[in-house]
Amino acid sequence: MPATTESLELIQTVEPDIRALMETHKERREHWYAHEVVPWEQGRSFRDEPWDESQATISRPVRTALILNLLTEDNLPYYHARIAGIFPDDSAMAEWSKLWTAEEGQHAIAIRDFLLTSRNCDPRSLEDDRLATVTRGWRIGFTDPVDIFNYTSAQELATRVSHRNAGVHADDPIAYEVMNRVAVDENHHFMFYRGVTTAMLREAPSLVLKSLRQVLTNFSMPGTEIPNFQRRAVEIARTGIYNLRVHAEQVVQPLLRYWKIGEITGLDAEASEAQEELMGITGTLIEQAERFEARLARRKRT
Ligand SMILES: [Fe+2]
Ligand SMILES: [Fe+2]
Repeated sequence: MPATTESLELIQTVEPDIRALMETHKERREHWYAHEVVPWEQGRSFRDEPWDESQATISRPVRTALILNLLTEDNLPYYHARIAGIFPDDSAMAEWSKLWTAEEGQHAIAIRDFLLTSRNCDPRSLEDDRLATVTRGWRIGFTDPVDIFNYTSAQELATRVSHRNAGVHADDPIAYEVMNRVAVDENHHFMFYRGVTTAMLREAPSLVLKSLRQVLTNFSMPGTEIPNFQRRAVEIARTGIYNLRVHAEQVVQPLLRYWKIGEITGLDAEASEAQEELMGITGTLIEQAERFEARLARRKRT
């Protein structure tokens, strides 16, 4: 949905909150250096010793997750363009989007360096996939800034969960550390965006609830443009790194609880409907997750 006057005014109203959240972020986040966690000592020449799958030390589904997460990070130019493009140059958000982009930029560097030095990906197909992904680009279905904040709140939390779980499932202390550093960053970003949504809810609950309904009922992670996205997503879902249950229990439900969506009063009729629908999302997702899990269990038995 394009930006409405009401949304633009709301963003102006919460500008002091955006500044305060950015200052808190700057104080709280400690910068880290990818070269200190990447195992450079393991690096070997791909010219002398071409890649072969037998060199990989991490299981195939977890490698799929690490690669999908990396390719998603590689599309950063489009995320920057989408966010920076809708806010005036002298706004707090213009400043934030530059800082956020600078911090996000290290994620692809760290994950790629880890995968290459540890030989847990085919460098050639990784580069082919990166090229295909970035050439396709990324479009988000909405340009309204209220939608953007609501989307990024959920997306940064989802990314945090996905990076962290990939690190845990890798069963490799260095992979764990790399992914944990990245996940900590995503958590800082998540707290910023969630804080903006909290401030917007305080000022204009009806408007924000309608937007949240739109964003959370049709939520999809950036990354759908990645080659073979569907096949990779199913492989990752099976591992439990990220699937519908994780999305319901670790992303949607905690957000709705944090914002106390069910307790908001004084809403207009449409927003009350949105509130009801929002409160049903977790249940619907869990039902879908149970069907997926049942199919998986049947397949395992046969
Ligand atoms: Fe990231
Ligand atoms: Fe992020």
